[in-house]
Amino acid sequence: MSLSSEKALEILSRFSRLVSATGAPENEMLPLLANAAVDLLDAGGAAVVEVLESGAARVVAVRDVPEALVGLAVELDTIGPELGERLMRAAAGRFVPGDTLPLTVPLVSGGDLFGALVMFFEHATQLDTDQLRLAQGLVDLAATGIGQAVRNARLSRTLTELQASREVLARTEKLRALGQMAAGVSHDLKNVLSPLFLLVQLLKRKPKDPAIIETAALQIEQVVRRGVQTVERLRAFSRQAPEETQPADLNLLVVEAIDLSRPRLLRVGAPIDLHVALGEPPTVALQPSELVTSVLNLIVNAVEAMPDGGKITVRTGVGERTAQAGDSDDDDLAPTGWVAVEDDGPGIPPELERRIFEPFFTTKGDEGTGLGLALVYAFVQRHGGAIQVDTELARGTRFTLSFPAVRHGTSSVRPLGLQEWTNGRGKL
Ligand SMILES: Nc1ncnc2c1ncn2[C@@H]1O[C@H](COP(=O)(O)OP(=O)(O)OP(=O)(O)O)[C@@H](O)[C@H]1O
Ligand SMILES: [Mg+2]
Repeated sequence: MSLSSEKALEILSRFSRLVSATGAPENEMLPLLANAAVDLLDAGGAAVVEVLESGAARVVAVRDVPEALVGLAVELDTIGPELGERLMRAAAGRFVPGDTLPLTVPLVSGGDLFGALVMFFEHATQLDTDQLRLAQGLVDLAATGIGQAVRNARLSRTLTELQASREVLARTEKLRALGQMAAGVSHDLKNVLSPLFLLVQLLKRKPKDPAIIETAALQIEQVVRRGVQTVERLRAFSRQAPEETQPADLNLLVVEAIDLSRPRLLRVGAPIDLHVALGEPPTVALQPSELVTSVLNLIVNAVEAMPDGGKITVRTGVGERTAQAGDSDDDDLAPTGWVAVEDDGPGIPPELERRIFEPFFTTKGDEGTGLGLALVYAFVQRHGGAIQVDTELARGTRFTLSFPAVRHGTSSVRPLGLQEWTNGRGKL
């Protein structure tokens, strides 16, 4: 039978419509190809072999060939002229050898082999070049469709995998943050709770003076309250609740931090002089227990920097906020309230200075976790404040934390001027 080019075009366009209408999953397209071979090309029967991603190949669709052939495994290297002979043998009885000509056309797209269409023609002489070309056209169309489908499937699998790994990453990141938070909380808790031991020792000695008992009880109450608030931070973090800030009196909180630090100073074998110079800082908004633990962290660092003793000065005061981008000209520049902890220790070498705020950076080996300053830094950042380090080798170090004032009004604690306290280990 010869095929007019008009008919061939019609067949091709019908098939291409079919291919594009199926949305192209290969399990629908391959039976279509087998049908097209019989209905459009007048083949006596057809079988389609698919190459799977695993590299195995098998018959996936047949038309006018025994159904038993579906599922038959095929060697990849037989995809070629041998394949037709192999399928004819497998479909024993259906075709008369010598009378039937098998024709195999591989499905290739983008350099990938997706399978093959095998057509069985009853009378070899019926097949002309136009029909061959048409068969090739159909197979190319199907291969392009399958190639596209396979590429789409791969793409969507990659996207799903990407999505999944993003979720895993986000979970890991959350866990990591939680871990850091937990480490930070336990770091601060250790500092906050350490006075308890001394206070309990004091009470165990059954002091006669009721004033001593009352002061110790009040201090224990305060320590426990700050301890609970410190742990509360972890809970708030895991609930992702916004931080609760409140108008705070820097002087009051600094005095509390100094009280909490005294037991730590008493443990030092060398003389430590503590000077307190409270100014008149404005009210600031922050989370009070975090300010207390931050100042405590700075005092503990100062003590640890001076194993042979030294002088620590804690100051508060009012400062000018430096104008920032976005401030309008006629805005009153609100003042800041600041607190500084200063020591006359060894200072910080310039090459270490830029690393001190990194979590887990420590020069104290197993004695330090390197979390203290990272926590202070994070706290100040969260409250829109600033942190400044002034340090000079062999002269000492000063850390200044400043916070924007929230409203007019100054500390309710009267400035004490310069106050002195020593840990009783003699003169410096
Ligand atoms: N006042 C200071 N004088 C000199 N060096 C300091 C001072 N404060 C901090 N440093 C340096 O900064 C490093 C980091 O301090 P940070 O408080 O973050 O951790 P740490 O004190 O080493 O450990 P942790 O706070 O967990 O006990 C310290 O190891 C130390 O080298
Ligand atoms: Mg520290």
